[in-house]
Amino acid sequence: MKNQELELYKNLPSHNVPPRADAMIENLRAMGYTIQTAIADLLDNCIAAQAKNIWVNFDWKLQSSTISILDDGCGMTNEELIEAMRPSTKNPNELRDSKDLGRFGLGLKTASFSQCRQLTVASKKTHDISYWAWDLDYIKQTKSWDLINLKPQEHFIIQLDKLATGTLVVWEKLDRVVSQKKNIDEEKSKANYYALAETVKKHLAMVFHRYIEGKKIKIFFNNREIESWDPFIKGNSYSQITEDCLQYGTVKVKGYVLPHKSKLTEEEYKKAEGIHGWNAQQGFYIYRNERLLVAGDWLGMFRKEDHYKLARIMVDLPNTTDDAWQLDIKKSVAIPPQEIKEQLRAIAGRVRTQAVEVFRHKGKTILRKYPNNQFQPIWQEKIRHGKRFYEINRENEVVKTLLESSKEAKTAINQLLRFVEEAIPIELIMIKQSEEPALQGKAFEDSNHDGMREMMKLLFQSLIKNGKTEEQAKGYLMSIEPFNLYPQYVETLS
Ligand SMILES: Nc1ncnc2c1ncn2[C@@H]1O[C@H](COP(=O)(O)OP(=O)(O)OP(=O)(O)O)[C@@H](O)[C@H]1O
Ligand SMILES: [Mg+2]
Repeated sequence: MKNQELELYKNLPSHNVPPRADAMIENLRAMGYTIQTAIADLLDNCIAAQAKNIWVNFDWKLQSSTISILDDGCGMTNEELIEAMRPSTKNPNELRDSKDLGRFGLGLKTASFSQCRQLTVASKKTHDISYWAWDLDYIKQTKSWDLINLKPQEHFIIQLDKLATGTLVVWEKLDRVVSQKKNIDEEKSKANYYALAETVKKHLAMVFHRYIEGKKIKIFFNNREIESWDPFIKGNSYSQITEDCLQYGTVKVKGYVLPHKSKLTEEEYKKAEGIHGWNAQQGFYIYRNERLLVAGDWLGMFRKEDHYKLARIMVDLPNTTDDAWQLDIKKSVAIPPQEIKEQLRAIAGRVRTQAVEVFRHKGKTILRKYPNNQFQPIWQEKIRHGKRFYEINRENEVVKTLLESSKEAKTAINQLLRFVEEAIPIELIMIKQSEEPALQGKAFEDSNHDGMREMMKLLFQSLIKNGKTEEQAKGYLMSIEPFNLYPQYVETLS
């Protein structure tokens, strides 16, 4: 701030307007966390505190159910804990330790309030345990930022006390997780609660997979150790690395093409599909200090399509570029700066081409398995009165289907095809081809393929309905022009 401005402001009348505690704390609940992003945010704190072991527990007790996160990190003194409980305890512009996963000084509070109305934190740095709690219902009454010295239940304290140092976070009054109404359907609510727990477990296995693989941390979920989920199946010899560690300043990029289904066991294939399935999990995987922020997204550059589903690209960021990448409080959004976006697009283009190649190759293999399928070109040569003409092949399945789709239109379509056949600009094509051969486009190059793919899918479905196996149907489609040009689309039909 300029001195001149400062002097001017100081001489003007001013009014201190702090936020209303009861309203503000309710607003902190609406950051848009899910239960899994909220718990991951708390694990960031455990890792930043150099924990080696983290215990996440979901305890079902109807409306009194609790979720707790215990770690054996460095812990906090009483004063440090009080400061940690302050909403906005740090300025996001402060320089952080290079291993720190935090940024805003908010996560502990915003993540917790997104799911519960009572947050208690207990911590042990030396031999004493300190504890402090926020209770939203109390703040509603007092309308002031009053932290309370509420002791967590004894069984929690016993667990923390067993550790030399560590921190315990307990969520109670879980109004966003368990309905707080009386008379809830107990069985159903319990099932929902544990289904959510399962979702959280899978999310943690993905977000922290590099920490787990690198043996930096162990996460226990309801006392069972979580196995990591590696999006790149690095141990599998068929996983290809297509772009090896390209480095743009502080950003490292590594492209992977995952193995085709046929190279994996059913179990491996199922595991590799991840939380949202093969198609959804393609794209960039953005890590900040090895912690996953974005899991499978083309960042608005491309559509997710089946034939690109084997492409997954690892992008590594340090914690010094948060502002440029527009890191959000939930640590679930990262948007590349414009100049890096262009470079990422170029890399992704190459990785995607290589990923498509796996399906193209497979499609062609299927074609070879069915040598008796007669090739059905679109154009064919016809001799009329000793002269050469080119005709559209009415026996080509695509043409045939179109002609038979409507009795009324059949004559008109036939008529149109005749016009096209008679009027092909053969001479012009010949001249252009000899003058500028490089400028000749290929079939469907740079044009929309949706119509062709729709037709392919319809034919595929009708072949399956008529008793063909998936492979036979694909083999047949591969013999039809123009489908033969796009084995990757044929191969990914299902
Ligand atoms: N499990 C923990 N062990 C030790 N210290 C912790 C723990 N959790 C939080 N803290 C301390 O409390 C502070 C505030 O945590 P909080 O999650 O609110 O913000 P942050 O981690 O600094 O930033 P962000 O908002 O990006 O998460 C941390 O910076 C850390 O010093
Ligand atoms: Mg944090």
